[in-house]
Amino acid sequence: MYLSDDIRQRILAYLPRYPSKQAVTLPALHIVHDALRCVSHEAIREIADMLDLSPAQVHDTMTFYQFFREENAPLGQTRLWVCRSLACGLRGGEELLETFCQKLHVQPGGTTKDGKITLEFAECLGACEGAPAVMVNDEHRHCVTAENVDGLLRELQ
Ligand code: FES
Repeated sequence: MYLSDDIRQRILAYLPRYPSKQAVTLPALHIVHDALRCVSHEAIREIADMLDLSPAQVHDTMTFYQFFREENAPLGQTRLWVCRSLACGLRGGEELLETFCQKLHVQPGGTTKDGKITLEFAECLGACEGAPAVMVNDEHRHCVTAENVDGLLRELQ
């Protein structure tokens, strides 16, 4: 078995809450992705087995959302999203993203060499009132400027 008992139990716990096994595909992908920082081929096979689906069905769901990482590009411990949509763009979002790239020595989509931070650009994070906004894993941070990038990165290291 590739997936741990804990991961398997957490996936199985969703079954009574959904109308079909197939409907549990997305929660299962999130559980695996959160725990392992990617969804490997082996994980896809085991999720498919648990949900009586084909691996291709699970893979299709996974790639449709363009959110999940495959095993050749796993996430770092922290996923840092920088918004570059209109409200944030008008308040320096592009420059903010460039500052993060320079400080972390990665391009968007890349992970720092120590595996701690994956930098991503995002379209609107739903936090326009706090532009320029970033998201640290699931948590919004508002009014992030080039001046407070160092403080944020120290916190994430
Ligand atoms: S445009 Fe950046 S959060 Fe909406």
